[in-house]
Amino acid sequence: MPVTSAEAQPRLNSPHEQGITLTINGQAHDLTLDTRQSLLDLLRERLNLTGTKKGCNQGACGACTVLVNGRRINACLTLAAMLDGSEITTIEGLANGDQLHPLQAAFIEHDGLQCGYCTPGQILSGIACIAEGHAGSPEETRFWMSGNICRCAAYPGIVAAVTQVAKEM
Ligand code: FES
Ligand code: FES
Repeated sequence: MPVTSAEAQPRLNSPHEQGITLTINGQAHDLTLDTRQSLLDLLRERLNLTGTKKGCNQGACGACTVLVNGRRINACLTLAAMLDGSEITTIEGLANGDQLHPLQAAFIEHDGLQCGYCTPGQILSGIACIAEGHAGSPEETRFWMSGNICRCAAYPGIVAAVTQVAKEM
């Protein structure tokens, strides 16, 4: 039977080892991990879900934003071991086959990206911002998306995309 990339990881055999179960983009993962590992490193380094980006690794840029049980969090500041039983959504889980999530399509429509490095975090944050009811106007969207930094300053397109999709939903 083929092993997944997660199963192929060597056992840590450290006193910090812990077993947890996560559902990531609808798929269950039984994982034994080091309790000091961040969710961001688990996603990128172990599960090869590299859509989630590491910018500052200090909670300041929002590039690593993912949804945990529907709420946006900075994956770089979150210990994976604390999330046993949680549902995680990353950028890889949004499209339905070739059909983009409406916010992904709106980012393209409004030119909400340049280099694209911040974009996965912006989109996950935008989905939660809309669900929170915090995207009623461009001003409100700008305020509640302020934890997501874009070094290319694609903010006008990002705000337009989030605010438009909020109106449509
Ligand atoms: S990488 Fe997590 S906030 Fe910057
Ligand atoms: S599009 Fe380049 S960092 Fe945002």
